[in-house]
This record gives sequence, C-alpha cells and structure tokens, in this order.
Amino acid sequence: MEFAPFDPSSASEADYEAITELRARMHAVDRPGTPPLSLMATVELMTSDDGMGPRTFWTAREADCLLGFATVMLPDRENTDMAMVFIEVDLDRRRQGIGTAFLRALLPSLQVSGRPRVLAVNITGGSDGEQFAEAMGLVCTYRNLLQTLEVESVDPALWDVSVPDGYRLYGWTHAVPEEFIVSYAEARKAIADAPSQDLAWEETDWTPQRVRDEEAVFAAAGQDYRIVVAVHEHSGEVVGITELFIRPGDPDHARQMDTAVRKEHRGHGLGRAIKAQMMRRLMADRPDLARVSTTTASDNVYMVAVNHSIGYADVRSLAYWETATDDLVARLGS
Ligand SMILES: CC(C)(COP(=O)(O)OP(=O)(O)OC[C@H]1O[C@@H](n2cnc3c(N)ncnc32)[C@H](O)[C@@H]1OP(=O)(O)O)[C@@H](O)C(=O)NCCC(=O)NCCS
Repeated sequence: MEFAPFDPSSASEADYEAITELRARMHAVDRPGTPPLSLMATVELMTSDDGMGPRTFWTAREADCLLGFATVMLPDRENTDMAMVFIEVDLDRRRQGIGTAFLRALLPSLQVSGRPRVLAVNITGGSDGEQFAEAMGLVCTYRNLLQTLEVESVDPALWDVSVPDGYRLYGWTHAVPEEFIVSYAEARKAIADAPSQDLAWEETDWTPQRVRDEEAVFAAAGQDYRIVVAVHEHSGEVVGITELFIRPGDPDHARQMDTAVRKEHRGHGLGRAIKAQMMRRLMADRPDLARVSTTTASDNVYMVAVNHSIGYADVRSLAYWETATDDLVARLGS
C-alpha cells in the first residue's frame, strides 16, 4: 500500500476519473441523499481555491489501483490551531487497517503543520466514518443536520412569504453594493450566535475587506454567488443576510452558506422571509436548478424549522470529531 500526496495541477484526466468513480461509489453509501460529483465538479473542487487555506490531497494505492483518498486542510485566517482531515477508503477494502495506516501516513505532515488539533468535519451520523473516528480516539464535539430542498418536489407557494413591516429585502449576485458594505459586514457577524455545542470554533472576523476578499474568491472560481438581505427601513442598515453559491461544474446544486439575523431584529420572521426571497430569485434566474442543500447545527431549532417551512427536508445527521494532535501521535505512533 502506497500513501502519497496527490498534485491536482499535474494530475491526468485518468487520475481524476479514478477519483470521481471511487468517490461516487463510496458516497452512495457514506452520503445517502447527496448525488455524486461529476468529473468536472471533482476537478473544480480540487483545483479552485476555496479561500480557507492550503489544502493537500493524498491517495492510497495498491498496485496502481486507487483504494483511498484523503484531504488535509489548514485554515489560515481563523481556526489556525486546527488541521482538518478527511480520509476515505473504498467500500470493499474497509476493516483491513487501511484507514488507520492512512492516518498514520498523514501524521508527519500534521506534526509539521504545527496544528495542535485534528478535526474531521461532516462525518455522516452512524456511518463507518463515525466508528472509525471513535476507534481513533476522536471525540464528537458538534452535531449538525443536512437538509435539502428538492425543487421538483416543493410547492413554490411556500416561498410567498410576506416581508415583515419596517423592513425591505434586496438581493444581488457577486458583489455587495458599496452603500451596504459596512452594515452587511456587521450583520454577517451575527452567525457567531449560532449554537456551537462543544466545538471551539473561531468565526470569521467580518470587515468590509473580508467581504470583498470572499467575493474575489467566488469570482476567481467562476461561482454564481448570491445574496439576499433584509434592510431595516428606519436605520437603512442590513440586519439579516443569506448567501449561497453554485459551482460551474455542479450547476444543478446550490449550496447554502450563512443565514443570520442581528440579535435585535430576531423574532419577526426575517430569516424565513430572506430565505424564501432567495428561492424566488434563484428559480427566476436558474430555472434548471434541482436542489439547494444546507447544514445547520442539530440544536438550532429555529433555523431547522425555517428550512422546513420553505420546503427543505432532513437528509441525514452529520458530526464533527476531533482530537489533540499529540494524542493521535501517541496513539498511532510515527
Ligand atoms: C472511515 C474509513 C476511512 C475507515 O477506513 P478503514 O480502512 O475501514 O479503517 P480501519 O480498517 O483502519 O479501521 C480501524 C478501526 O476503526 C473501527 N471501525 C472502522 N469502521 C468500523 C465500522 N464500520 N464499525 C465498527 N468499527 C469500525 C474499528 O475499531 C477498526 O478496527 P478493527 O477493524 O480492528 O475492529 C472508511 O470507513 C471510510 O472511508 N468511511 C467514509 C469516509 C468517512 O466517513 N471518513 C471519516 C474519517 S476522517
């Protein structure tokens, strides 16, 4: 078994095809309810910058046959104490020690990174991945829920939600209008109030510059980045935001990101109004879209209920698992 770094820039089409096929096979079991990524989407995911920090990819091969794949991500603006690791092993080769050997092979690079925490995010609840994480000594610190809105099965009347008195909604693609940039950045900080359970997680320190930086990342990757906001008429400030993006290689699927309403404006139905407005605008512009997916803390009952009210269905539970890097080294050895 050979564990080696995978260089996305020099990989051949055959390499990407093998990865796409391997992941499609695994994801049918490990990620039920989420369609597999196409070849184009796989290439895009691995070659475009997500603005989060350096990523390295690894493969596990036996006699040139691809048996596993791993991603290591080192956040470089917030959460710089953690290395995010995700290992995948082909279905018919599980429980043969490959996952353990793969993790051991990654240890030197984790140690060199100097990150004291190792985190695996979005492992499907009850899956092989959870059993493996537990066996490796990781502890679950955060549980969340994947919800998906399948456009074909939802009545668009659910998106006819009236705007609460005293507020107006605006929407745009790609860049926040300059007149809103300051209060938009401020409103984005409201996501810090979402439940984080036992997870120590540093939220983005939103400033107008960080907003522009994020827009630049989406633009460079050619993604369709969309935002809807609620503006408080009296102050003229943005007080609620919701944002999503669509990758060019996966044009059927919109991925929801943050939805947040500033504390003093909660309880008026703004979250539901902005998300419903997002759906109306989205379907007007992208009538071929098949689905929107979102993840929400499992104990964020308000957000989960808002999503249900506009047609999202629960797909599966997910969890974050973590350990101290030193403990992992002590457990697995070098
Ligand atoms: C997680 C994954 C990489 C493990 O790969 P693997 O090669 O099967 O792992 P190992 O054989 O080294 O398993 C090590 C130990 O984990 C535990 N384990 C792994 N899968 C398990 C399962 N389905 N049920 C119970 N225990 C399990 C066992 O204790 C196992 O040791 P044992 O077989 O001697 O009892 C693989 O299941 C996978 O690809 N899952 C989907 C992706 C994922 O969720 N990854 C998250 C991990 S970062």
